[in-house]
Amino acid sequence: MPARAALVLHGPNLNLLGTREPGVYGRATLAEVDRLVREHGRRLGVRVVCRQSNVEGQLIDWIQGAERERFLGIVFNPGAFTHYSIALRDAVAGIRLPVVEVHLSNVHAREEFRRHSVIAGVARGQIAGFGPRSYVLGLDALLAVASDGTDPGRSARRR
Ligand code: DQA
Repeated sequence: MPARAALVLHGPNLNLLGTREPGVYGRATLAEVDRLVREHGRRLGVRVVCRQSNVEGQLIDWIQGAERERFLGIVFNPGAFTHYSIALRDAVAGIRLPVVEVHLSNVHAREEFRRHSVIAGVARGQIAGFGPRSYVLGLDALLAVASDGTDPGRSARRR
């Protein structure tokens, strides 16, 4: 693996992108989203590894293993787990790597239950509402925080 590599994690149901509620999530497939973010990474000299799972435990294993795999951080769309998975929150809180939470849709403009993220409080930040570009912006944010090494939100975050 080259010196700089970022991990992109997609949670449940994101494998259905392209056909899943296109009015909300658009027509791009997961493979197209992955290609977009991988190409963006290539332009910036960063290898991007994309993984998707519908299984909470698999996502936890990938988060826990990210340091060992020498990723510089994670761009993470936890899907519906965003709103209730304390186990995923604990996994994000338990690693030292920066994690940027991303969503295709603007979760704050949707149903009430989507407005709360249990992940956001332990992530470096959240990007939502820009469709597949949320991942590109998420990668930019990840690279910015990974290279400057500062963490202004750290003391404010409840770990
Ligand atoms: C989502 C938003 C979640 O509320 C939803 O459960 C998803 C996708 C998004 O990318 O907009 O599965 O994370």
